[in-house]
Amino acid sequence: MHSASLRRLTRTSIVGVALLALGAGIYWTSDPVPTPLADFSVPFVYGKFAVPPDNPLTVESVELGRRLFYDPLLSGPNTVSCATCHRQELAFTDGKSGSVGVSGEPLAFSSMSLANLLWGPRRFFWDGRAMSLEEQALIPIQDPDEMDQDLDVLVEELEADPIYHDLFERAYGEISASAIAKAIASFERTLVWANAKYDRFLRGEVNLTDAEEAGRKLFMAHPDTKVSLRGGNCIDCHSQFLTSGFRAAFDGFSNNGLDGEDDLLAGLAGVTGRAEDRGRFKAPTLRNIALTAPYMHDGRFATLEEVLEHYNSGIQDSTTLSPLIAEATNSPSSEHRISLFLTPDEQAAIIAFLHTLTDHDFVTDPRLSDPF
Ligand code: HEC
Ligand code: HEC
Repeated sequence: MHSASLRRLTRTSIVGVALLALGAGIYWTSDPVPTPLADFSVPFVYGKFAVPPDNPLTVESVELGRRLFYDPLLSGPNTVSCATCHRQELAFTDGKSGSVGVSGEPLAFSSMSLANLLWGPRRFFWDGRAMSLEEQALIPIQDPDEMDQDLDVLVEELEADPIYHDLFERAYGEISASAIAKAIASFERTLVWANAKYDRFLRGEVNLTDAEEAGRKLFMAHPDTKVSLRGGNCIDCHSQFLTSGFRAAFDGFSNNGLDGEDDLLAGLAGVTGRAEDRGRFKAPTLRNIALTAPYMHDGRFATLEEVLEHYNSGIQDSTTLSPLIAEATNSPSSEHRISLFLTPDEQAAIIAFLHTLTDHDFVTDPRLSDPF
């Protein structure tokens, strides 16, 4: 017997065993006990994280989740998998402004990169309508435009497959919609990006170039003309080492000035019902941003240059525009236009810094790639 499975078997007999004395005989029954994911390490600078108590990270759940993530069987016509719109080489996005699923029609929204999902806002999707990864996973599967699958039919299809039968048995002891969601969520929690040039810089292993360093400072600074502090203001919303939105409640959602009053979409207001949340969307992580064009919820910007131009001089005012953007300026004059007034060199420096957030190891890591 393979030594790993022998070890597992031994542990199973010690931990998961119920001893039943029935009549004259003694029977040992044991449910399979999944193996805790032992070599899962994350950078301490990311801070604490928690997984739901009823879905601990285990070797079996992650392996199963990875297979489900890449399997077109999950869609009604067996043509589209999660990975169709979340491709590893594109940091789990799809390069499109509107993602395309089984219906062949582009969706209204651009795919989101799946990075460091253990941290950041506890709300998923651009408008925050899913409260957990488990809840999120079942939404695209059933959506008629995305994967158009009936969950009962999916469970039957998986039961008919001996490999899945075994994997589910070992990970969760059953095949169900909830086990499908849990497995996919477990795999997604292992998508931790932490070996970009910026991370190596934080660990003291490499230096940044002059442009990257200038960009890092601008990224991190809220401008203050009184003390001649120049800043790009980015960290106000793309926070900390994760460069994603804040964790607390809806703090990670803002209106970054893409549209004027008349064109504001509901965004977060669709979830909260509050008028002041109109046009507020999740501030996404900027890790691997050089790989995830086009940008914003509708993919309206093709390049990072266009993004910087937006923040520098394209901000549209509205009642819900973030005050952090409305009052940020590098110009000491009393000109009232909302603009950062960054020079072209400063914008280029911020872009150079954004490129240091690309984790090349991650987009090629075989543990996260298509297992088929
Ligand atoms: C047809 C393309 C498509 C498919 C298939 C698809 N997604 Fe997505 N995914 C998207 C789009 C588009 C968004 C943003 C949608 C929105 O906000 O309304 C998204 C958002 C997400 C998010 C939210 C990320 C965040 O930071 O909030 C997660 C997680 C996710 N998808 C996981 C999955 C999983 C798991 C599957 C398979 C079960 C899947 N997706 C299938 C296109 C797709
Ligand atoms: C007031 C908060 C705020 C500030 C300040 C801010 N952003 Fe954003 N950023 C957001 C939000 C919210 C989104 C998503 C908006 C949407 O799609 O509706 C976003 C989206 C982006 C995107 C596109 C991400 C993607 O996955 O498509 C990039 C790139 C970006 N911001 C870079 C920056 C840079 C660089 C700065 C500083 C010059 C900055 N942001 C300042 C809130 C902010």
